[in-house]
Amino acid sequence: MTELHVREWHDDDLPTIGRLHAVSRHHAYADLVDPVALARVSPASQEAVWRARWAGLRDGAAQGRPYVSLLAEAGALPVGFAVAFVPATPDDRAGAELNALHVLPSHHGTGVAQALMRGVVDALGTWGVTRAHLLVLEGNARAEAFYRRAGWVLRGPAGTHDVGGAEVPVLRYELRLR
Ligand SMILES: CC(C)(COP(=O)(O)OP(=O)(O)OC[C@H]1O[C@@H](n2cnc3c(N)ncnc32)[C@H](O)[C@@H]1OP(=O)(O)O)[C@@H](O)C(=O)NCCC(=O)NCCS
Repeated sequence: MTELHVREWHDDDLPTIGRLHAVSRHHAYADLVDPVALARVSPASQEAVWRARWAGLRDGAAQGRPYVSLLAEAGALPVGFAVAFVPATPDDRAGAELNALHVLPSHHGTGVAQALMRGVVDALGTWGVTRAHLLVLEGNARAEAFYRRAGWVLRGPAGTHDVGGAEVPVLRYELRLR
């Protein structure tokens, strides 16, 4: 079996992150997002999104707000990524946000997602936060099942999230860390 590595990713990995994000969104959101909006999601659009977010993560870190950016590679093949951080204005219920966790469809059910989640939770454990939250698209049953298995608890509807210009309803999950 090909060996799995999880490492931090940096700005020179942004084209890879954009591609992983676009492929994952097209697969996971096919039945959840208007096809015209989903067609606007491309490796280039997502690389641009992550370039801007990367700058935000670096700015936040310079101001003392930690982040973790992880890339999973099966051998030399990038197969998934995750990002979590402490937001600029954390609410009183959750100190950190799991902002993204995506695995290539070819590697679902292989343990890649668990390895990324372990890396994220390890990082959160060093930040002194007591809770984390995430938003997941309503109807993304596989992701919800994965998060529940990892100990995350559904808190309820949390507004909408922009995907390719479409506003899609999201649910909030929380994880208690200690
Ligand atoms: C969410 C994601 C990271 C989980 O990784 P994964 O490798 O698929 O996760 P696993 O296979 O270990 O677990 C998925 C769970 O969903 C279940 N499942 C599989 N297909 C399902 C489906 N169609 N509907 C509901 N549950 C499903 C599995 O049985 C498993 O549950 P279990 O652990 O109780 O048996 C991955 O599916 C992914 O990248 N999805 C697309 C991106 C995404 O939606 N990310 C979350 C954004 S918030």
